[in-house]
Amino acid sequence: MVKLIGIKKINIAVFISGTGSNLKNLISHSLRKKSRYRICLIISNNSKAKGLNYAKKYNINKKIIHYENITNAEKTILKELKRNSIDLVCLAGFMKILSAKLIKKFKGKIINIHPSLLPKYKGLNTHQRAIKNKEKFCGCSVHYVNSKLDSGKIILQKKVRIFKNDTAEKIKKKVLKQEHILYPKAISKVIVNL
Ligand code: GRF
Repeated sequence: MVKLIGIKKINIAVFISGTGSNLKNLISHSLRKKSRYRICLIISNNSKAKGLNYAKKYNINKKIIHYENITNAEKTILKELKRNSIDLVCLAGFMKILSAKLIKKFKGKIINIHPSLLPKYKGLNTHQRAIKNKEKFCGCSVHYVNSKLDSGKIILQKKVRIFKNDTAEKIKKKVLKQEHILYPKAISKVIVNL
């Protein structure tokens, strides 16, 4: 039997702007006995993000970032990351773009989940665009964050079939289900290199 006692867990911050279903899923995974990470901090630019409720429910530190001024916003983010000894940042539906400066400071330690098979369909409304182009497949990707939108090195991807009558809403649900499998797997893959 492999003894897990003494294994160091890494500290993760999850950045959200909305529902937080990925956040909730990552918290559940982090609470598993053999998990190698804990979610220590939730950051949101949106004080009304539904996902913020998980902070209270699971007793996790949270910080709302006011984005009137990006320099100040990112100063606060960096302070919080230091204060919570964060090793890895996981973006999960975070609707703000991080500056090249911040990304450089946390190089190789910021990852994102995106609802498309990158490099196809960067940005927003991915499923609508896939339907419009009569794609047979869509999917999701977890990638490292670099200074170009949705362009960093891909860590893992999962394909999802698009059927003839699928609406964007239907696809979103199917893809989200796969996101919840993919993101924890991708984290397990990257923490080996931290
Ligand atoms: C997900 O589809 C993710 O791929 C994208 O934003 C959405 C966030 O969903 N970046 P949730 O807030 O985790 O439910």
